[in-house]
Amino acid sequence: MKAIILAAGLGTRFKSDKPKVLHEMLGKPMIWYVLRYLKASNIVDIGVVASHKKEQIMDYLKDENVSFFEQSNPKGGTADALMAGKSFFEDMTDYVFVVNGDTPLVKEDTIKGMQRFLHMVEEYEHKTIGALVLSSFLPDPTGYGRIVKNPQGDVIKIVEEKEATYDQKQINEVNAGVYMFYVPYLLEAFKHLKPSEKTNELYITDIIEIMANQGITCRSFMASEITEIFGVNDRWELSFAESVIKMRLLESFARAGVSLHSPESIYIEPDVVIEKDAEIFPNTVLKGNTHIKKSSKIMNGSYIENSSIGEDTTILPMSYIKDSIIEDDCTIGPMCHIRDNSHVGKKSHIGNFVELKNAKLKEQVYAKHLSYLGDIEIGEKTNIGAGVVIANFDGKHKHKTHIGKKVFIGSNALIIAPRNIEDKAFIAGGSVITRDIPKKALAVERSELRILENKSKIED
Ligand code: UD1
Ligand code: CA
Repeated sequence: MKAIILAAGLGTRFKSDKPKVLHEMLGKPMIWYVLRYLKASNIVDIGVVASHKKEQIMDYLKDENVSFFEQSNPKGGTADALMAGKSFFEDMTDYVFVVNGDTPLVKEDTIKGMQRFLHMVEEYEHKTIGALVLSSFLPDPTGYGRIVKNPQGDVIKIVEEKEATYDQKQINEVNAGVYMFYVPYLLEAFKHLKPSEKTNELYITDIIEIMANQGITCRSFMASEITEIFGVNDRWELSFAESVIKMRLLESFARAGVSLHSPESIYIEPDVVIEKDAEIFPNTVLKGNTHIKKSSKIMNGSYIENSSIGEDTTILPMSYIKDSIIEDDCTIGPMCHIRDNSHVGKKSHIGNFVELKNAKLKEQVYAKHLSYLGDIEIGEKTNIGAGVVIANFDGKHKHKTHIGKKVFIGSNALIIAPRNIEDKAFIAGGSVITRDIPKKALAVERSELRILENKSKIED
């Protein structure tokens, strides 16, 4: 089975320099969703008709194994676009799927259902359908092509909003812009297309009337949900489509055993994986290839991107984690910042206002308050006191620090990298560490404390 995606329109209503189908929903361009539902329905041979800013579309799809066709006039209309891709399907004696590139909400089961429907008509009615049109009944059909049927229920015409009479506008069944055409009949119909008198465009929808006039049966196939047929013509519709996709995604997580608190406030992208018994609290953002493991909790306002969160780990509110791994049974945050390939070992605690940058922490490392730990390795059971700072940058270069096992670093110590602090060393609070510290050594760098009796100038 082949499918061709029409993506050559100007998308004027987007008011954008970017082609419409590359506008993103949940971090993926609209056309990604179209490809996904086609591929999930085992349609692997896919063509794309582009025109306006076609290089950008080709660049985005360069690894997707699709064929490109160019519509020379992006105002030619949807049938002109389809004809531009004719060489993709003209040798077929079967059906081709044709899909508007701005229809991202169709479900894969619907695409499979359309294919099954055609097989059933062939099997039981011994008929070859000329066109099967995906449709739905909308309470407000404004803007969509209306499906006109004969008394037997066959589709005899699709009338565009701009061309519709008052009576035709009352029809609630609308065209989704997703079709299956029987190729030999389609090629024949191309010969009879005429531009609209109103817009001078060639309409794909006119193919139905041409076929019906030739005695060819056309049918409509009802989408299982009305949201599926939604066409995205401007940015507000993009926002709406994004919400629909997000709620579907969240529903699938909830049904698979994930608790979602105030789901309308949770932002989650389609590649995120969440295991059962995880709990996601309001206003969280989960992006990219993030993996939230079993029974972990992501609390309010946290932002996690391309990161893995271990089992039974809690991310306390307002934490930011990017490109990092947090292992099982950790407590992270509130308000911490973990980034650049950091790795936090099991049962560690990273507390408020702690920043980890390219930091590799083994098990049970505690850094609970106000620290900067950059370009560092820390051994197991080491304690980092409040306010410890690793000075990893000398103004020109970044340097690495290694801290061993069971080390104790007192509050407000400043460690000048590159440095090696060996196992079980003890660094006194407030020390500035400019030399390596051997195993089990106590390091104190402090000037003497002076106490001058009655020298305070505070009046009684
Ligand atoms: C189209 C249908 C309408 C249907 C609606 C569903 C036609 C004439 N009308 O209307 O019946 O209810 O979709 O959303 O088909 N395109 C090209 N080249 C062109 C024009 C458009 O490739 O010259 C592409 C666009 O990039 C877009 C798709 O075809 O992805 C649909 O075009 P659009 O202008 O959005 O059609 P609608 O007015 O929404
Ligand atoms: Ca449209």
